[in-house]
Amino acid sequence: MAKRPLLVGNWKMHGDGGDLPTVIAIGEAARRHPAVDVALCLPATLIERAGRVCLGLAIGGQDCHAEPNGAHTGDISAAMLREAGASLVLLGHSERRHDHHENDVLIAAKLRAARAAGLDVMLCVGETAEDHAAGRSAEVVRQQLTRSLAGMGGQGIAIAYEPVWAIGGDRTPDPAEVAAMAGLIRDTVSGVRIVYGGSVTPDNGAALFVDGGVDGFLVGRQSLDAEAFIAILKSIDLATRQISSPS
Ligand code: 13P
Repeated sequence: MAKRPLLVGNWKMHGDGGDLPTVIAIGEAARRHPAVDVALCLPATLIERAGRVCLGLAIGGQDCHAEPNGAHTGDISAAMLREAGASLVLLGHSERRHDHHENDVLIAAKLRAARAAGLDVMLCVGETAEDHAAGRSAEVVRQQLTRSLAGMGGQGIAIAYEPVWAIGGDRTPDPAEVAAMAGLIRDTVSGVRIVYGGSVTPDNGAALFVDGGVDGFLVGRQSLDAEAFIAILKSIDLATRQISSPS
């Protein structure tokens, strides 16, 4: 059976109180498209305020520490995110893996902490341009999955396939490549929702969703623009209806 579609925005290190109208507009659109689960992963400083103004979508964090508390200056625990109103957290994003040298062992510890605190997790995996060129994408993604999940089942977990080379630019994989990777992820972890991330726009969204065989998207830049993000939401909702009742 097809899974409920899932659309998640990752604001990265963008946004302040002046952007709450964008959150509200996206929340209102999410209420108009109840067949799609919508979430925004916001900077930690915005989580509580966003939760207060907006009921139509889930609010998430972008990372958490593996420990519940302690002498970790500048970090935030899963329980703190939860208390601020987050219901999910991104883990293993390539910007954390590369800029902060996070490895799969650390990501696995964070994942256990997040689940223990009652947060859903969107675990991000994806190969670098170098691995892609060398034909190692499947090997890299399989390894990231098995090491980061470290025996955890799929309960409360979604997987985001984000090829590093497709993030923040204008290149995306062919939908067939996305479909092959979605198949690999499904064979490795059963029962999870799989989303694609990397330069998703209103123009390429429908093809990546339908022909890429994914359950939705993790969207960066275009989630900062309510109009663009809502257009992606609409295209997922429409495509889901067309798939479930072909004419
Ligand atoms: P862009 O959509 O800006 O390419 O970012 C993708 C991403 O990294 C989402 O987590």
